[in-house]
Amino acid sequence: MSDHVAYVFDLYGTLVDYATLRDRFVDHVADPDAFVLHWRQKQLAYAFAATLMDRYVDFDTLTGFAFDYSGAAHGLVVDPALRAAAIAAWSQLPAFPDVGPALDALRARGTATAVLSNGTPRALAATLSRAGIDRKFDAVLSVDAVRKFKPHPAVYRLATERFETTPERIAFVSSNGWDATGAAEFGFRVRWCNRAGSTAETLGKAPERIISSLDELLHD
Ligand code: LAC
Repeated sequence: MSDHVAYVFDLYGTLVDYATLRDRFVDHVADPDAFVLHWRQKQLAYAFAATLMDRYVDFDTLTGFAFDYSGAAHGLVVDPALRAAAIAAWSQLPAFPDVGPALDALRARGTATAVLSNGTPRALAATLSRAGIDRKFDAVLSVDAVRKFKPHPAVYRLATERFETTPERIAFVSSNGWDATGAAEFGFRVRWCNRAGSTAETLGKAPERIISSLDELLHD
């Protein structure tokens, strides 16, 4: 039995699947998978840059700027309606199939659960509701409260403050390698859910466990 006060989850790529966005762009770009990957990488690069520049703009806005950039790079003809729909699509992503059962099982043990994400409070509420998992969390925490993006420690501190505990009593779960190392540097007990079979990060503290699906959290 684990001694964790709470399991705290990243959202995009961990609980909901942004790779599915490719279906919306099959008629717009030659390689929709590469386009979505580029869009995601640019969205994250802008989040890191905004934090370093101390110029916070919310994640929906960053997602739009990243869409403009990656769209231009992939020859996408961007019109305002397509752009608005593309940003909104991040609030309509499906949950991975292992998410609901794993959360139910953790909660049945009496473990608290939370989301800690770069997304805006409004996008987080809409995404979790649409994915059908909004009732499975004790807390939904957005970086908006500190106006910095992950992996800034001020973001991870939102979780220790919410659960009034120390970092080593929190299990943090992310599929994003850089988020997993950032959270490990903060002191969380990190489970890197390597859904995509990615190469391990080489900068920063390694995660305590590497798992391939959330079912494995039940054997913590
Ligand atoms: C999030 C992104 C970074 O949910 O995956 O915070």
